[in-house]
Amino acid sequence: MQLRVVSDQPWEVTADVLAVPFVGEPRFDGVLAEIDRRAGGELAALAAFGELKAERYGSAIVAAGELSAGRLLAIGAGDAETITRQVVVRIGSAIERRLAGRSVKSLAVWLGDLGDRIDGGAVAVAELLARGVVEGEFEPAAIYRDGYKNVPPALDELILVAPGADAASLMRAAERGAVIGEGANLARGLANRSANDVTPEVLAGEARAIAERHGLSIDVIGPVRAAELGMGMFLAVGQGSDNPPRMIVLRSGEGDATDRAGRRLAIVGKGVCFDSGGISIKPADRMEEMKMDKTGACTVIAAIATLARLAPGTPLLAIAPAVENMPGPHSARPGDVVKAMNGKTVDIVNTDAEGRLILGDAMCYAEKLGATHIVDVATLTGAVLRALGDQMTGAFGTPQAWYEAVAAAGERAGERYWQMPMIDEYRKDLDSWYADFTNTGSAEGGLVKSALFLREFATVPWVHLDIAGTAYFRKKTAYAPAGATGVAHATLVELALAGAR
Ligand code: BES
Ligand code: MN
Ligand code: ZN
Repeated sequence: MQLRVVSDQPWEVTADVLAVPFVGEPRFDGVLAEIDRRAGGELAALAAFGELKAERYGSAIVAAGELSAGRLLAIGAGDAETITRQVVVRIGSAIERRLAGRSVKSLAVWLGDLGDRIDGGAVAVAELLARGVVEGEFEPAAIYRDGYKNVPPALDELILVAPGADAASLMRAAERGAVIGEGANLARGLANRSANDVTPEVLAGEARAIAERHGLSIDVIGPVRAAELGMGMFLAVGQGSDNPPRMIVLRSGEGDATDRAGRRLAIVGKGVCFDSGGISIKPADRMEEMKMDKTGACTVIAAIATLARLAPGTPLLAIAPAVENMPGPHSARPGDVVKAMNGKTVDIVNTDAEGRLILGDAMCYAEKLGATHIVDVATLTGAVLRALGDQMTGAFGTPQAWYEAVAAAGERAGERYWQMPMIDEYRKDLDSWYADFTNTGSAEGGLVKSALFLREFATVPWVHLDIAGTAYFRKKTAYAPAGATGVAHATLVELALAGAR
């Protein structure tokens, strides 16, 4: 897709479709009135009729009259007070998705007055809209189908229309946004693939190809080396499957260099290619969703690739422990006691609390490789889905200053996080008869306990993002299909970019 920024008036732009966002009620004044007048007044008529409303992401497509574009698409940005960076991304996606199945090669999007609503003005809007349009192209329904019809159009050209703006700086921003959107789609494409397709070994192969493409170094650790390294928790989860586990380690930058922020940042992503629960087997209802339990891994692999495109050479470590959690004669049993890489012993009382086991060893390994700061991202608990739903990621971290650095990156990325407390009193619920602690306690406060477990494996500043609610949508929306959302990718990229030279 070619990107272009033009400072012409919207009615002068030649494209198959011209998209125009409106804020609040569809009232047509100023530039919007002129656009509609030239198009023949149909938008104002639809608004009067009640067909076009103030609803966010609601849209209408009309004929373009005397406009240079082929069709006119109006889209609601919703209430002015609640327009955020995330909303701007989603407007871009909703425009692109509204055009699914239509013949569109060139799309022009007028920035309107969205620049007045968010920090960074038109430059930020250009970045976020371009990212949104690219993310809108993603259609998982087409992954396993040839000739699936209802795909959002593959655009030859995206034209951002910003009369009077500095086209060069908007262009740089839009390019950055498009690269971040492509990275999110890379993560989503991997995450959506099914477990008979993407085994740990296949995920490692995808990571190798990505590493090669972007000049990253890669190391893939199998069971023999994992045993030598003492990764007893990682191996315990992986041993139940015929598809052997892989600890995928990607690196950018030189050896043990620190980044501009003085950090050696590591991002660690849960890669459970299928989570049946193991011997503590899950109920059948919705078990098929557990092919998405590798989303954290896909996210960190994509994020380091995006960093390599935007700021090559910036130090970053990405670790993705990949396993299949299966029941069978070789599986870990409830009550098995294993030793983690940091020497702590763990009583696996529930084999379905497997994510924390593989992440614990991966975090220890990150520190062994010199990480000074860690962020892990994982579809870790059903509890976070019940607590926060699919719009807000639950987050934990210590010390608070590191949590806030990650939250600030999330803000720049237009992603939503809600900090959860680590309540020390609950730690004793993980006490074990046989080991230093169990991998799960009683269900009360289970979300907090999952983080208390992970904290046992971090000695450096660490943040945990539980994306079990936000990683995939069960239903499509105007701005996204059902399936992987790409959540946290942009946050990790923004966080790493804070260390770019
Ligand atoms: N992968 C699941 C968590 C999950 C649930 C992700 C729903 C996405 C949607 C995780 O491994 C798991 O099974 N967690 C258990 C933990 C429990 C056994 C302590 C859970 O949340 O029930
Ligand atoms: Mn599980
Ligand atoms: Zn899981």
